[in-house]
Amino acid sequence: MLTARLTIDPARPVGPVSRRLFGAFVEHMGRGVYGGIHEPGHPEADEGGFRRDVIDLVRELGVTTVRYPGGNFVSGFRWEDGVGPRADRPVRLNLAWHSTETNEVGLHEFASWLDEVGAELMLALNLGTRGTLEALDLLEYANVPSGTTLADQRVRNGRPAPFDVRMWCLGNEMDGPWQLGQRSAEDYGKLAARTAKAMRQVDPAVELVLCGSSGASMPTFGDWERTVLTHAYDDVDFISCHAYYEETDGDLGTFLASATDMDRFIETVVATADHVKAVRRSSRTIDISFDEWNVWYLSRVPADLAKGIDDWPVAPPISEDPYTVADGVVVGSLLMSLLRHADRVTSASIAQLVNVIAPIAAEPQGPAWRKCTFFPFATTSRLARGVTLEVRVDGPGYVTAGYGEVPVVDAAATADDGAVALFLVNRSQDEEVEVSLDLTALGVRTVDEALTLSDPDPHAANTADRPDRVGLWPNPRAVVAEDALRVTLPPVSWTAVSLH
Ligand code: AHR
Repeated sequence: MLTARLTIDPARPVGPVSRRLFGAFVEHMGRGVYGGIHEPGHPEADEGGFRRDVIDLVRELGVTTVRYPGGNFVSGFRWEDGVGPRADRPVRLNLAWHSTETNEVGLHEFASWLDEVGAELMLALNLGTRGTLEALDLLEYANVPSGTTLADQRVRNGRPAPFDVRMWCLGNEMDGPWQLGQRSAEDYGKLAARTAKAMRQVDPAVELVLCGSSGASMPTFGDWERTVLTHAYDDVDFISCHAYYEETDGDLGTFLASATDMDRFIETVVATADHVKAVRRSSRTIDISFDEWNVWYLSRVPADLAKGIDDWPVAPPISEDPYTVADGVVVGSLLMSLLRHADRVTSASIAQLVNVIAPIAAEPQGPAWRKCTFFPFATTSRLARGVTLEVRVDGPGYVTAGYGEVPVVDAAATADDGAVALFLVNRSQDEEVEVSLDLTALGVRTVDEALTLSDPDPHAANTADRPDRVGLWPNPRAVVAEDALRVTLPPVSWTAVSLH
C-alpha cells in the first residue's frame, strides 16, 4: 500500500469559502429545461409544470446560485420572448443548439423555480447579437421596483417585487468562433465596459462578470484576459473561467489529474488580472467566476446535433453523458481546486444541472436519479464551510502524458468553528493509499463521517434501471489514534472526512 502524509497549518487560511462556489448552470440546451426541470404532464409535475422529484434532487445537491439562460444560447436570445402571456410568446430557432425554442419557460417561470429550489439567480446577457440598450432594458425590467413601462410590465406579468438579480454575466464566451456575435478582445472589452457603466447607472449594486477566454486552450488565452480587463477593469467585479475535461484515448491517468490543469488555469488568470491591476495602479481586486466547469464528453456533441434547414427539434437529447465513478472522482477533485483558490474564486457554476452535462438525470415520464458526479458535489457543498486551509501533501507521484508528474493524492481542507472537512482523491488506478494527518494543531479529535466514492470498476455508472448502482459508502478505515487521522483511500476514489 502507498502512503502519504498531510500537513495543515490552521493559522494560514487561504480565504473564506463563498457559498457561491456551489453554483450550477441551466441553459436552454437539449433537455436541460424542457424535459429536464420542466415537464408538464409528468406525474411529479407541479401546477407550473416543474418536476418535484427534480426539485428535491437539486435541493439535495446543495446548489446555491444558478446561471441562466446560457451559455451559447444567450447570444441569440431576446429576453422579451420569455415574458408575458405564454400564448403570445414567439417560437424561435435556437441557433446555438440547432433546435426550436418554444419560450414556454422564461425569466418568471425560472425565477419561481429557483424560489422553490432555494438558490440565487445569476443572469447572462446577450452581448453577441444585442448590446447595451437591451441589457439595460432587462435590468430595468428585473430590478427596478415600479413606475416605468418595463418595471410595470413585470408587475403586470405577475411579479410585484423586483427579481433583484445581483450577478450578471456580460455575454458568454465572446472569444469563441462558435459564438453568435463573436468579438475581438478590443471590441468586446469596450462593449463590456460601456454596458457595465450603463448598468451601474440603473443599479449600482449589481455584480458584473466579464467574459474571460472560453478555455485555457484558446489561442488568445492570456492576451484576451489582459485586453478585456484593460478596458473594463474599473467596471466589473469578476472575470469568468470555463473548463471542461474528458477522458480521451483511454488515458485515465491524465484525466484523473485534471485538477492540475484547473489549478494552473486559475493561477494564470489571477496573475493576469493582478498584472492589469498593477499597470493601472488600481486598489480593486478582480475575482474569478468559474461559471462553467465539469467533465464533458465534448467530442460526442456533433453526433447529437440535428442538421439541416428542415430539422429543428424541440429539446433534443444533447450531451446526456452517463458519468462514471472516474468522472465523479474528477468532479470531486475539480471542486478541491476551486476550494484551494477560495481567496480569488468566489463564484462557480457546475455546467450544467439536469440531463445536459449534468449530475441529475430525468427520464421523460420516468424517474430522476443521481449520476456519479452528484455525490462529490452534494457532499462538498454540505461540508465545505468557513475557510479553506492550505494542505501540504508528501507522498508519491506518477507521470501523466498531459501534465507531467503529478501527486497520487490530491487534498483540500476547510475549517469552521471547531469542525474540519477534508477532501481527498487517490489517483492511483491499482493501489490503495493510507493518508495520515497530525491533528494536534487543528484541535479536532473525532471523525463525524467518512464517505468514499469508488468502485472496483471505475467506469461503472448509474442508469435508469440501476439508479443506485454506484454511490457513496461509509469508509470504516478513517480512524483517529494518538492525535492523528489515518484514512485508507481505494484506487480511483474521492473521499470526504468531517471531524470535530
Ligand atoms: O455548457 C455548454 C456550452 O459550453 C455553453 O453553452 C457554452 O458557454 C460552452 O461552450
